Amino acid sequence: MSPQALGTLSSSLPLVLVLCSLVYASSLDSIAPQNDSNTDLHALCCLKLHLTTSAGLLVSWKNDSLQFCSWSGVTCSKRHASRVIALDLESLDLDGQIPPCIGNLTFLTKIHIPNNQLTGQIPPELGQLNRLRYLNLSTNNLTGRIPSTLSSCVHLQTIHLGSNSLDGVIPPSLSQCSDMQQLSLGHNKLSGGIPEGLGMLRNLAVLRLATNSLTGSIPRSLGSSSSLHSVVLTNNSLTGPIPPLLANSSSLQLLALSNNHLSGEIPPALFNSTSLQKLLLGTNSFAGSIPALLNIDSPLQYLILQSNNLSGTIPSFIGNFSSLRWLLLGDNNFQGNIPMSIDEIRNLEILDITYNFLTGSVPASLYNMSALTYLGMATNNLVGELPHNIGYTLPSIQTLIMQGNQFQGQIPTSLANTTNLQVINLRNNAFHGIVPSFGILPSLVDLNLGKNQLEAGDWSFLSSLTNCTQLVNLRLDANILQGVLPSVVAGRESS
Ligand SMILES: *[C@@H]1O[C@H](CO)[C@@H](O)[C@H](O)[C@H]1NC(C)=O
Ligand SMILES: *[C@@H]1O[C@H](CO)[C@@H](O)[C@H](O)[C@H]1NC(C)=O
Ligand SMILES: *[C@@H]1O[C@H](CO)[C@@H](O)[C@H](O)[C@H]1NC(C)=O
Ligand SMILES: *[C@@H]1O[C@H](CO)[C@@H](O)[C@H](O)[C@H]1NC(C)=O
Ligand SMILES: *[C@@H]1O[C@H](CO)[C@@H](O)[C@H](O)[C@H]1NC(C)=O
Ligand SMILES: *[C@@H]1O[C@H](CO)[C@@H](O)[C@H](O)[C@H]1NC(C)=O
Ligand SMILES: *[C@@H]1O[C@H](CO)[C@@H](O)[C@H](O)[C@H]1NC(C)=O
Ligand SMILES: *[C@@H]1O[C@H](CO)[C@@H](O)[C@H](O)[C@H]1NC(C)=O
Ligand SMILES: *[C@@H]1O[C@H](CO)[C@@H](O)[C@H](O)[C@H]1NC(C)=O
Ligand SMILES: *[C@@H]1O[C@H](CO)[C@@H](O)[C@H](O)[C@H]1NC(C)=O
Ligand SMILES: *[C@@H]1O[C@H](CO)[C@@H](O)[C@H](O)[C@H]1NC(C)=O
Ligand SMILES: *[C@@H]1O[C@H](CO)[C@@H](O)[C@H](O)[C@H]1NC(C)=O
Repeated sequence: MSPQALGTLSSSLPLVLVLCSLVYASSLDSIAPQNDSNTDLHALCCLKLHLTTSAGLLVSWKNDSLQFCSWSGVTCSKRHASRVIALDLESLDLDGQIPPCIGNLTFLTKIHIPNNQLTGQIPPELGQLNRLRYLNLSTNNLTGRIPSTLSSCVHLQTIHLGSNSLDGVIPPSLSQCSDMQQLSLGHNKLSGGIPEGLGMLRNLAVLRLATNSLTGSIPRSLGSSSSLHSVVLTNNSLTGPIPPLLANSSSLQLLALSNNHLSGEIPPALFNSTSLQKLLLGTNSFAGSIPALLNIDSPLQYLILQSNNLSGTIPSFIGNFSSLRWLLLGDNNFQGNIPMSIDEIRNLEILDITYNFLTGSVPASLYNMSALTYLGMATNNLVGELPHNIGYTLPSIQTLIMQGNQFQGQIPTSLANTTNLQVINLRNNAFHGIVPSFGILPSLVDLNLGKNQLEAGDWSFLSSLTNCTQLVNLRLDANILQGVLPSVVAGRESS
């Protein structure tokens, strides 16, 4: 380190130099002029200047220069003494901009600075770090484009820039990072298409690009990596079909494409997968039917197809997806009966088949699916009665939505014994008899029994509701409720 260089540095980095140059001065004698560790010290001091923190969390960075390897968050190489190989600066309330001098820490293999308030652009100088394997700048306030120079970091395996405000396109040059395993750019403002070349990265395991403004189609080559594990493209404006190669991927566990403009049929291979656990395709324009083939050992846990243009019946082999926990088929054109086999899905927690054209009676065994927390069957043409013991056979139920069908019979009093119930919506059916007292349901938020043929009896059901402190919506209109309102109701209404 020459005094000249120090002078240059101090004029541009006045504050840090007060700290860093004092340290130099005392140790200048022991440092050779062109020693590489000086470069790293300079770069660290430069970082310290630019990455300010109101909480003073980089306080250890003003200590003895020769020991910068022991500064918090700094890791040095064992083989190359005094060369920085990793920066771990997660959640330190850092703000300011990442300075170009970070590109001088040429031994860096890992940059981990997520969850701070960094602003400005990602410096193109990061491309100088040809040993870099891991880059995590997620959850900051970075803006501008993703530098295409990152492709010079030929050993990059992980890029996580999610939850920033990056815009522009995904640089096609990233396809040259042949070691890439994980590319996470979700929750930014990226536009344009997904570069076709990304699909050809042969070690790609995770591709997360959700919640951007991406257009165009899913790369046809995606799925060619035999390690592909998770693909999350939710909340974009992608069009076109699910590519066959992706559907055939034998390692895929998570495919999340919800909330795009994708179309075509759902490839049968996806229902045949021995690896897929989550298939999330809601709110797209998929058409056609659920194919009639199955993999009996399917590990599928989440099947979300709601808000598409699917038709045909709900196939009876759905019961063979025995690992399913969520089955969301609402807002499609499904017709026919609810298959009897559905009760074979022992762990089903959420079943939503609202807004279809389903007919016939609900299989009695469906009301025995004790893991159900959400049962939505609204707006179909279903008939039948609720079993009298439903309150005991659906002990976990929180939401029961059956509005807009032709259900009849009495509302079972046992419903009041399912203490987790928050929403009961039986509106617009043909229920008759006396409204049960739901007063012992502590979590009840929404009770809608309107447009039935219900009677009030002695109105005790209404006074019991005074105990439901969470109740926000109560609708009883268009029934045949008659008699004198109990005084307790008047008291509640005036409060
Ligand atoms: C640089 O200086 C440090 C501290 O004096 C020393 O440990 C290291 O070996 C030197 N590196 C080179 C490449 O000369
Ligand atoms: C600086 O180093 C000395 C000895 O190495 C240590 O006792 C002291 O706690 C350090 N100070 C800071 C702020 O890290
Ligand atoms: C990087 O280091 C070189 C010398 O090692 C120096 O000339 C240059 O100014 C440094 N770059 C930055 C951005 O600090
Ligand atoms: C990046 O850092 C965040 C915060 O620690 C972490 O949750 C995330 O998993 C990291 N990304 C990768 C790809 O390791
Ligand atoms: C960073 O972004 C978040 C969310 O957009 C915002 O609340 C916060 O104020 C921003 N911080 C800075 C320093 O810009
Ligand atoms: C998609 O957008 C919704 C609504 O803004 C959000 O709650 C969800 O987390 C997003 N999904 C992903 C995978 O980013
Ligand atoms: C997908 O797998 C099926 C059955 O194994 C095979 O016939 C088909 O050619 C494959 N398609 C692609 C695009 O690999
Ligand atoms: C379904 O899986 C079986 C057995 O793994 C395979 O023979 C068949 O080709 C697959 N069908 C499709 C459409 O992928
Ligand atoms: C939905 O699919 C039907 C055929 O099943 C087709 O006639 C209709 O145009 C499609 N609607 C949309 C919005 O794609
Ligand atoms: C579903 O699995 C059962 C065995 O659990 C089997 O007997 C039945 O044939 C399967 N259903 C279909 C449609 O293949
Ligand atoms: C069901 O609730 C009623 C009152 O609403 C109560 O009398 C009865 O004991 C409860 N049954 C069980 C099994 O908890
Ligand atoms: C409300 O709850 C209290 C305490 O659990 C109980 O004593 C009372 O009878 C209940 N009132 C009604 C109207 O159900």
